[in-house]
Amino acid sequence: MYPVKIAPSILAADYANFASELKRIEETGAEYVHIDIMDGQFVPNISFGADVVASMRKHSKLVFDCHLMVVNPERYVDAFAQAGADIMTIHVEATKHIHGALQKIKAAGMKASVVINPGTPLEALLPVLNLVDQVLIMTVNPGFGGQAFIPEMLDKVAQLAQIRKEKGYHFDIEVDGGIDNTTIKAAAEAGANVFVAGSYLFKADDLIAQVATLRNALND
Ligand code: DX5
Ligand code: ZN
Repeated sequence: MYPVKIAPSILAADYANFASELKRIEETGAEYVHIDIMDGQFVPNISFGADVVASMRKHSKLVFDCHLMVVNPERYVDAFAQAGADIMTIHVEATKHIHGALQKIKAAGMKASVVINPGTPLEALLPVLNLVDQVLIMTVNPGFGGQAFIPEMLDKVAQLAQIRKEKGYHFDIEVDGGIDNTTIKAAAEAGANVFVAGSYLFKADDLIAQVATLRNALND
């Protein structure tokens, strides 16, 4: 019912060669490319903004799964829609108006996705679960790639899947942070179906083979 989607994170790619990196990701058969937007305020790190995403769009037909780690992300809904983002994910911790911001994303023609940090309880999502196309459960604290998976987040994923079933909602469950061939299966068993992976995938020379190890781990 919820097909597996692999979302290589371009945060771990070569920033000077986005066009060829996007091509490499496309060749793996990955369903999405995960694009991390960081403003240096919501998280300490700075990455890039909507103009860079618009340039990427010219080089790729992949589904752009944009994860905004940005204060007051509602300010950027139109910019990301125009840049060609397909999914816009925003943090409940980053705005006083999460409900309105998600409505704005949908009205702009994108899929609306909401995310919580490891320290934020699942309850913060309950009022918007009927609105969203995707929920992202962070499995590391956002800001940097290459951090260790936080196993306690699996309970959150499982509880979310249970609520979805009980209420008859329909949305994908995505996990982001520390996903590799040793953690992906447990995340899937808890109920996730969209898997972001950065450092694990890009540390390998052969991206196609490395993505295949994730799919194989799911089938083990
Ligand atoms: C972290 C980002 C992630 C990051 C994951 O703040 O949201 O998308 O790219 O990187 P890995 O897979 O290395 O944990
Ligand atoms: Zn991310």
